[in-house]
Amino acid sequence: MNQLLDAALAARERAHAPFSKFRVGAALEDQDGRIFTGCNVENATYGLTVCAERVAVFKAVSEGARKFRRLAVAADTDRLTPPCGACRQVLWELCGDIEITLVNPGGKLEVVQLRELFPRPFDASFL
Ligand code: THU
Repeated sequence: MNQLLDAALAARERAHAPFSKFRVGAALEDQDGRIFTGCNVENATYGLTVCAERVAVFKAVSEGARKFRRLAVAADTDRLTPPCGACRQVLWELCGDIEITLVNPGGKLEVVQLRELFPRPFDASFL
């Protein structure tokens, strides 16, 4: 667990956030214990910015990971930063009801389940 939080905090240091200066890190653990990290990568057109969480999950899927245990999200806020709406949708579809730990560099943390953040999701079961 600490390793996952440390990985998210370290990933945050690699954020490319010249516009917002709001740096976020994420670390996703798969069923084999492999950890995939992500940071937010901003773009001058703003709308093409990708959040840390989606970078992490897309990296993981592209490396062949398919089942996930836990996600950690790190940002330097006292009110712990949760995944945005777009990331909640993507996480739901690719990770299911995953456990998410929100953390800040001061060590404050909170553990939530994705279903608490994202009730009544639309997903492939409707198609
Ligand atoms: N951001 C994330 O990477 N993850 C979150 O959970 C919240 C927001 C990024 C997107 C953008 O680069 C910056 O934070 C400000 O919204």
